Formats: sequence, C-alpha cells, structure tokens
Amino acid sequence: MAKAMQSAVPINTPRHVAIIMDGNGRWANARGLPRTAGHRAGVERVREAVRTAAEAGVQYLTLFAFSSENWNRPKEEVSDLMGILRFFIRRDLAELHRENVIVRVIGCRQTIEPDIRALLNEAEDRTRDNTGVTLVIAFNYGARDELVRATRQIVAAVKAGQLDDATIDEMTLSAFVDTAGVPDPDLVIRTSGEQRLSNFLLWQAAYSEFVFMPCLWPDFDRNAFHDALAEFNRRDRRFGAVPTPNMAVGS
Ligand code: IPE
Ligand code: IPE
Ligand code: MG
Repeated sequence: MAKAMQSAVPINTPRHVAIIMDGNGRWANARGLPRTAGHRAGVERVREAVRTAAEAGVQYLTLFAFSSENWNRPKEEVSDLMGILRFFIRRDLAELHRENVIVRVIGCRQTIEPDIRALLNEAEDRTRDNTGVTLVIAFNYGARDELVRATRQIVAAVKAGQLDDATIDEMTLSAFVDTAGVPDPDLVIRTSGEQRLSNFLLWQAAYSEFVFMPCLWPDFDRNAFHDALAEFNRRDRRFGAVPTPNMAVGS
C-alpha cells in the first residue's frame, strides 16, 4: 500500500510548496463544534504535511498560520489561535528538530506577544543548522505589510549609504522581503475551496502554480498532498515564453 502511494509521487517535484491552510472553522461547524476545535484538528495535520513534503523531496514548505488580517476575528478566537501556536511550538519543536527540519518564520514579529516572539526565535535558533526540509511558518504575515516593511528597510539602507538606489532591482526587493534566501514557491495550495490569495506571498507567487482544493484543512492528509503534487506535475510552466511543443493545442 505504502509502495503504491510512493509510486504516485510526481517526478517533477516542486522545490517550494506554500499552503494556505483554510477551512478549520467550516470543518468544526459541520460537526457542531466550536471553531477552536477546527483549529485544534488543523494543527494535527501540520506534522503530516511536513513529513509528506520531506518524503516527496520538497525542500521548502510554507504554511500560512495566521494572517495580519486575522486580528479582525473575535478576541476569543485570536487568543485561541495564539494558544494553539504556543502549544504547537512547545510540543513539536523537539520532534521537528529530531527530524532535521529547519524552522523559519515570516511575518511581522514586532506586534506579537513577547512570549510568542521568544518561542518563534527559539524555533529558528535551535533548528538553524539542520539540513532537512525548511518549514516556513507564516505567522502574523500579510504580503502588503511585508512589502511596506521591506520598502522601509530599503529606504533606511539607502539613507545610511549602505545601498545605492541606482542599483535597486528585483533581486534587491527579494533580498529585503521576509523570505530572503528562500526560493519563490513553485506551487501554492489553498484548501477549503476558496480561490483567492488573501494577502499571501504577493511578491513571491508571481509565477507560482495554484491548486485550489475543496477539502478543508483538517482533512488535508498525505493523499490530498499527493493529489496536489500530481496536479502540479500536469502543469506546463511557461514564465512568459512560448508553450513547449508537447503542450501545443491539438497535439
Ligand atoms: C484557517 O481556517 C485558519 C486560519 C485562518 C487561522 P479558518 O478559521 O479561516 O476556517 P474557515 O475559513 O472559517 O472555515
Ligand atoms: C487565510 O485564510 C489566512 C490563513 C489561512 C492563515 P482566511 O480564512 O483568513 O482568508 P479569507 O478571510 O477567507 O480571505
Ligand atoms: Mg478561512
């Protein structure tokens, strides 16, 4: 059985997969449970996703955990989500470290509670020298906020004489956004059937392939991940060039 699933792993594996983990609330609603139960069930899928990514040869897995707009949710839900992140780092960091995972965090670190900031810093510090898959946690992340922060840093560097404004190009911006050093995502998956980016990786996803899946995040298992990888494998990425001959219409 495991062998059969292995053989379904696409040959053309994306180097970087980014996932908008959506649908926790609807998963809970469908069961008559509070939304928090959906968030709890959702966090239980994270380790499986990291393992599946590693097995498939994906080198970077970015997970959208909390957006800069999610502060607009009721106070209790925000507080539950903060609690779940604390729980996840405290419970799973040692195991992620054992599995050689490098943890990296993107998003605004200034406006989160100090103990969460400390946990996120610890996760990055402890796993920095690992050599396995990189798990990028997007927490308090919003792409527009990221681009504003990057712009401010670029302006500061120019003012300080560390950067010549005449040399600013796309690579400069890529070096100043939170994902500096991480390749752009090849594949962006969104669960729950919604088909929007919700302020996720606007700069980095310029040429990503998008796979929107109806399944809710707490149901996103290994097989669902493999389905998304298989769909990616059927895509023809062109980057503005002409289609490759085998994709020509009628061929
Ligand atoms: C995703 O699930 C988790 C976060 C955004 C933190 P939702 O909580 O958005 O679930 P739905 O979209 O309401 O079902
Ligand atoms: C996007 O989901 C954010 C995360 C998955 C963390 P949302 O549920 O917040 O997005 P919208 O509000 O449906 O666009
Ligand atoms: Mg949602």
